[in-house]
Amino acid sequence: MYYMIGGLPKQPGAIGVFDSGYGGLTILDNIRKILPEYDYLYLGDNARAPYGSRSFEVVYEFTKQAVLYLFEQGCHLVILACNTASAKALRSIQQKDLPQWDNSRRVLGIIRPTVESISGITQSRCIGLLGTVGTVQSESYLLEIKKTCPDVQVFSEACPMWAPLVENREYDKPGADYFVKQHLNNLLSCSPLIDAIILGCTHYPLLESKIREYLPQNIQLISQGEWVAKSLRDYLTRHPEIASKCTKNGRCEFLTTESEIKFAGAASVFLKEDIEKVKHITID
Ligand code: DGL
Repeated sequence: MYYMIGGLPKQPGAIGVFDSGYGGLTILDNIRKILPEYDYLYLGDNARAPYGSRSFEVVYEFTKQAVLYLFEQGCHLVILACNTASAKALRSIQQKDLPQWDNSRRVLGIIRPTVESISGITQSRCIGLLGTVGTVQSESYLLEIKKTCPDVQVFSEACPMWAPLVENREYDKPGADYFVKQHLNNLLSCSPLIDAIILGCTHYPLLESKIREYLPQNIQLISQGEWVAKSLRDYLTRHPEIASKCTKNGRCEFLTTESEIKFAGAASVFLKEDIEKVKHITID
């Protein structure tokens, strides 16, 4: 449902960070490390997560609702800290929706900054990509890589169980080993030349220690948080007109479509700090 009575708030606001659930916290964590002065408003659509196996239309619709909600809360800049949403909704939101809502607001994804890191990492020019079904099927990474580093060959593997394992806090339990081993083996059997793997889902850093257990030592893991954070810092430097609309009190607040208590408990584990300011919201 879309309505904007009296338009969106004009005064500066927090930077919005959106994910289907908890995964985007891994991005937020990195962003806050290098840009601690800004305010952040994180929205996890936990009640409808995971997004990974949902259709293009559904991911686009859910993401659009979340972005508009964050704009209504005063955000002028929203980061889609979710590869599935970046792959399936970013372009349409930027091209179709922003001009209708407010062309001065910005929505940024996390696929481009991740891809920009690849060239300096792979020696063999042969890499792997692990992501949700939606991200892999969208071929967004392949298209970006073709533009940025056309000599790099990419092998992809969709891991439909990995985000649910994280969302259900099973990522460090023995059951996770089976799925981690299975998908890594599938990917590595594609080519002996793979020397770097993109963790193309913001939920996957939570599985990183399990992944490393089954990964040959010569293969590097490309985790997105650091690259996205650096890219955001550069973006804000290059765009002072956007930076000036982002408030700076070092605050961080959280919104969830699930229960506040459940979110606070899980988010405290993921961020390794006590989360207090959580509000339940409904979006549609
Ligand atoms: N964390 C998200 C991503 O980066 C989505 C995972 C999911 O909801 O399936 O793709």
